[in-house]
Amino acid sequence: MMRPGSSPTCSPGSTERAGRDVVTAPTPDAFRAAMSQFASGVTVASTVLDGIDHAMTASAFTSVSLDPPLVLVCVEKSTRFHHAITMTRRWGVSVLGHEQVDVARWLATRGRPLAGQLDGVPHRRGERTGVALVEDALCWVECRTWQSCAGGDHTIVVGEVLGLDVHREASLPLLYFRGGFTDLIAPEATTPSVVRAARPAG
Ligand SMILES: Cc1cc2nc3c(=O)[nH]c(=O)nc-3n(C[C@H](O)[C@H](O)[C@H](O)COP(=O)(O)O)c2cc1C
Repeated sequence: MMRPGSSPTCSPGSTERAGRDVVTAPTPDAFRAAMSQFASGVTVASTVLDGIDHAMTASAFTSVSLDPPLVLVCVEKSTRFHHAITMTRRWGVSVLGHEQVDVARWLATRGRPLAGQLDGVPHRRGERTGVALVEDALCWVECRTWQSCAGGDHTIVVGEVLGLDVHREASLPLLYFRGGFTDLIAPEATTPSVVRAARPAG
């Protein structure tokens, strides 16, 4: 994972040009470093398979369509969550606030025990799907899989939104940027586009 402020190192297939690294044959590290410049929100995707909760931190989440209402999440094939969401086709997404960084770190920890992984994460059950939704998130969507598409080592899971819920007094979002968690400075304090490193990279 790239550290905040770092940039792709020059390697075969790349040249330095006027303060830029120009990469003609992207390595995984160069690709990851370039994509890390794209700031995203942070979510928890969740589903329940055979009575066991599956949940993972996911930043590859976006809205797709208004009519019908569709969202997508990209799920790495090697994760346990991939098997679970493929089987259940019912899932939820909780959009995390900036004070929920510990939840994001925990549910991104590979190899954590599945049983009891949500014991320390306040959550409730979604009315439409029964999946765990993280309390105090900014908003929640519940979905059924509308289509799954191949996406290299990930599957792009497009979901039809069955229900949604927005926190009335939502705090500021948790962001992921240059390989680290960060947050927005409160809009009233400065422009919303300014970011500050809130915590060291994970
Ligand atoms: C900020 C952040 C964002 C992530 N986004 C995704 C994502 O969008 N898709 C994905 O498959 N994994 C993503 N991951 C990795 C998963 O959270 C991680 O592999 C998780 O442990 C998988 O859980 P599982 O093994 O129980 O399925 C992300 C990790 C971090 C730290």
